Amino acid sequence: MSEITKRLSRRKFAQLLGAGAAYTVAQRGVSWRTPLRAADTRRHFTSTPAGVVRLSANENPYGPSPMALKAMTEAFNISCRYPDEHADALIEALAKLNGVERNQILVGNGSGEILKLCAAAFTGSLEPGNNRPVALLPRSRGGALPSFIPGRGKMIVADPTFEAILNHARVNQAEVLKIPLTGSFSHDLSKMLAAANQGLIYICNPNNPTASITPKKELRDFLDKVPRDTMVLVDEAYHHYADSPDYESVIPLVKSHPNLIVARTFSKIYGMAGLRCGYCVAQPEAMQRLRPHQTWDSVNIMAITAAIASLGDADQVTNGQRLNRETKKFVTEELSALSYASIPSQANFIMVNVKREARPIIGALAQRGVQIGRPFPALPNHLRVTIGKRPEMETFLSAFRQVVA
Ligand SMILES: Cc1ncc(COP(=O)(O)O)c(C=O)c1O
Repeated sequence: MSEITKRLSRRKFAQLLGAGAAYTVAQRGVSWRTPLRAADTRRHFTSTPAGVVRLSANENPYGPSPMALKAMTEAFNISCRYPDEHADALIEALAKLNGVERNQILVGNGSGEILKLCAAAFTGSLEPGNNRPVALLPRSRGGALPSFIPGRGKMIVADPTFEAILNHARVNQAEVLKIPLTGSFSHDLSKMLAAANQGLIYICNPNNPTASITPKKELRDFLDKVPRDTMVLVDEAYHHYADSPDYESVIPLVKSHPNLIVARTFSKIYGMAGLRCGYCVAQPEAMQRLRPHQTWDSVNIMAITAAIASLGDADQVTNGQRLNRETKKFVTEELSALSYASIPSQANFIMVNVKREARPIIGALAQRGVQIGRPFPALPNHLRVTIGKRPEMETFLSAFRQVVA
């Protein structure tokens, strides 16, 4: 910890931590849906030209928690300090939330950084801080984690899935194996298991771009069978939006699975995509293998402050879930009335089967000021559409009707 941070006034720090709790009380009577003021609205959409509806990045259109906004405002004057103590406070809160020890939490610059760290640690070819290639491990089942880095591991992913981690693995010259999703758009875990051979298996649940889940029983059985020298990263970025009885978070399984890492983000339900904060939960030995790859203080003090405050705002989660559920129902029903089915969605976006090549439709919608997800080669006839606010979805539907007419 830096000297300067140690000298940070305890009172200021306590105030900052207390901001979440105090603001919870202050905000009780204030609707989370209070409309944004004009200035706020402009700020909210500064990343897109006026009039453009952005349904392309699975962002939360309702923005961060009012408690996060207040806590960040109060934190401006400590942004001259390194964030060590605040990061500790966030780790403490996340450990409590997830029922694990503090050394089982690693906070990252978005969960994107966690994905990068996993690729570096488990598909990299070099021991950190050392140019010596590391020998490959013998395959083994059960027992403790090996104490050294496996090196140039294989990366096994679904197809289609969130591609960021593939790019990181490719930089490491890792062999990447893509296994198509099943007919019900879940991960084909038996094929993934058959291919497991050290390195890293990436499971995105709910999956981006399909918004589909991999059923909890299948995932549990899979985790019990994966060889212990193969790491499994389960990305739960969209966890809060999943409400199927067939879905569960695997964080409780971390204690019995030393090769399991679970990633979460503050970018989705907490509406903090531009702030960059995510984290992972794993056993301490797995953490030790990730930490050497991370930049010191990679998460900034505003993001940490906002994250701590957000965790104290239960309404942020319940309101976000409700609004997403209601608007998703509206848009999927409208599309289905037009005879366009969507893959059942457990996330804040939908994958719509347009029964023809999607790429020209994506372009035609963009010309009408509606940005939706990029094309996904594994599902060339599907459009990925983020669930925005109801008026945004009405704009999308009206443009869609014109385009497919
Ligand atoms: C499945 C998945 N994981 C991780 C991320 C990255 O999120 P973050 O903003 O936390 O880096 C995304 C972003 O859309 C995502 O879809």
